[in-house]
Amino acid sequence: MSTILVTGGAGYIGSHTCIELLNQGYDIIVIDNLYNANAKSLEIVQEITGKQLTFYQSDIRNEQHLQHIFEKHEISAVIHFAGLKAVGESSEIPLEYYDNNINGTLTLLRVMKKNNCQNIIFSSSATVYGNPKTVPIKEDFPLSVTNPYGRTKLMLEDIFKDLYASDTTWNIVLLRYFNPIGAHSSGDLGEYPAGIPNNLLPYVSQVAVGKLQFVGVFGDDYDTTDGTGVRDYIHVVDLAKGHVAALQKLEPKSGLNIYNLGTGKGYSVLEIIRTMSKVVGKDIPYQILPRRKGDIATCYADSSKAKKELNWQAQYDIIRMCEDSWRWQSKHPNGFSD
Ligand code: NAD
Ligand code: WQD
Repeated sequence: MSTILVTGGAGYIGSHTCIELLNQGYDIIVIDNLYNANAKSLEIVQEITGKQLTFYQSDIRNEQHLQHIFEKHEISAVIHFAGLKAVGESSEIPLEYYDNNINGTLTLLRVMKKNNCQNIIFSSSATVYGNPKTVPIKEDFPLSVTNPYGRTKLMLEDIFKDLYASDTTWNIVLLRYFNPIGAHSSGDLGEYPAGIPNNLLPYVSQVAVGKLQFVGVFGDDYDTTDGTGVRDYIHVVDLAKGHVAALQKLEPKSGLNIYNLGTGKGYSVLEIIRTMSKVVGKDIPYQILPRRKGDIATCYADSSKAKKELNWQAQYDIIRMCEDSWRWQSKHPNGFSD
């Protein structure tokens, strides 16, 4: 079985993907600078799977060290998660976002090319669709972005397209994730955002566990069933399995392929709060607040291309997503430091 380099593998989606890869028999090398992760996540990955991985605490912008890793291991493909991801923060420190996301990826691609490894899966985002004219969103919809984080994803997609146009020996899969939530069913691996969460599910979970007082609902005057924003929430384990399916697509001459990874179903903010309340067994207090700048009304995927070409489809429903989020949150209210 081949060896996969997972950049950002100690993070939320990366660590869940490591579990699926190890379960499928892949050897894994993880590189992560632990900027937004705790190395404990990788210990838990190894405990859950009963398998070992190799971890380098390092920055992908360190070209020399990356070269050393490629010399030491025969890497057949890279799954590239490493990057900064907070939309609001990206407007405050854009240079850091461009440096980390763009320079990090350029360094990685240079070292890959030098070492004749030209198979890569990249974490893109539904954010590249901007405010779609219609839903469900297909891969060929027009692309537009409104913030530096989104711009790094769109720029990187363009960089991958230019790279492939210049050299068709590359095999590239761009995965556009919708809204990943949930956690591993053990309740021992999940997302623990630093500070006050920006995303809905971690916020709702922290209210449910008593760390925050109420959920601020950003607007109830959107053109949706109950006026609150609608998103395509996808279980992180389903997303992780999408990467294993995409790896199998990375055969020689598979070219450059783009897939949406979503469930195809949209849920409103109030539906999420209600579902979580049922799962937790108590009311989750909320207050309607003004709209958040840059938010859109509705976003959900048409994932039929991934179903057809990758033989992948999301399995878990919204109740299971909330149950798993809650198991992780209640078992580890302080994340990996518990
Ligand atoms: P995360 O922050 O949990 O994981 C990213 C990991 O990369 C972290 O462990 C961080 O320490 C590491 N990292 C960052 N910069 C690095 C660098 N220069 N060198 C080495 N390691 C570095 O985020 P996540 O939610 O797991 O997201 C993974 C990828 O998926 C990101 O590229 C993100 O933009 C993308 N994505 C995430 C979402 C989401 O909502 N979570 C949605 C769409 C796309
Ligand atoms: C979901 C809904 C909010 C928090 C973001 C990024 C996107 C991708 C996924 C990386 C919206 C509402 C939220 C809160 C709320 N990440 N909300 N109160 O904005 O769809 O997507 O994460 O690529 O690029 O933009 O996710 O979880 O922040 O919001 O009412 O405290 O919940 O308005 O309708 P979003 P989210």
